[in-house]
Amino acid sequence: MIFSMEKVIVLASHNKGKLKEFEEILKPFGYIVKSVADFGHTEEPVEDGKTYRENAYIKAKYYFESLKMPVISDDSGIEIDALGEHFPGVHSARFADKIQEEFGHGYEVVNAWILKKIKDNPNRKAAYHCAICLIEEDGKVSYFEGVCPGRITSGITGTHGFGYDPIFICDEGDIVFGLASEEEKNRVSHRGKALTKLVKYLKEKEGNLN
Ligand code: IMP
Repeated sequence: MIFSMEKVIVLASHNKGKLKEFEEILKPFGYIVKSVADFGHTEEPVEDGKTYRENAYIKAKYYFESLKMPVISDDSGIEIDALGEHFPGVHSARFADKIQEEFGHGYEVVNAWILKKIKDNPNRKAAYHCAICLIEEDGKVSYFEGVCPGRITSGITGTHGFGYDPIFICDEGDIVFGLASEEEKNRVSHRGKALTKLVKYLKEKEGNLN
């Protein structure tokens, strides 16, 4: 059997926004998602990979080695054409930290900085990317990826979601993530798409074992 009876999966993240989205999507399939914080982990590995996949693997492996339980990790980011090719991309979290160190705390500051920076640029193209890494109890590693193409708003819009959501409009359905409900976002988001692939994999796996 790949997962224990109560189907607990550990999420290799301290990000509460991500945890909520993982819980929401995996709950209907009977999975209980626990954060590494629930196991007393306060430290995080250095994410020095060059791709979302590499970083997702670094995080999953780090906590798998310590907990010896099925672990999922997510590495994600936003790519904003007008800021540079694939930028901030895998550096999305660090990029936000840097802006906050200089200009003040909170993503409102980061998002306002971006809007100001690309103010006159007609190219608003952007995309969220996500790679999920699953390490099963037996050490098997699998990846599930999702992309959410969209564009940057002209002003801060809404307070829903987290991070860059108040400045992101998803092309599919023209959904402003800062205004979207969790269900609306999960249906079209990068993480939602990657998670759908993960769920399909888990269901097939269980089907084969039953
Ligand atoms: P990670 O935790 O190293 O994967 O950092 C990903 C970063 O990308 C987050 O801290 C956010 O800044 C950004 N990000 C990824 N996914 C989302 C999303 O769904 N909404 C808003 N920001 C996101």
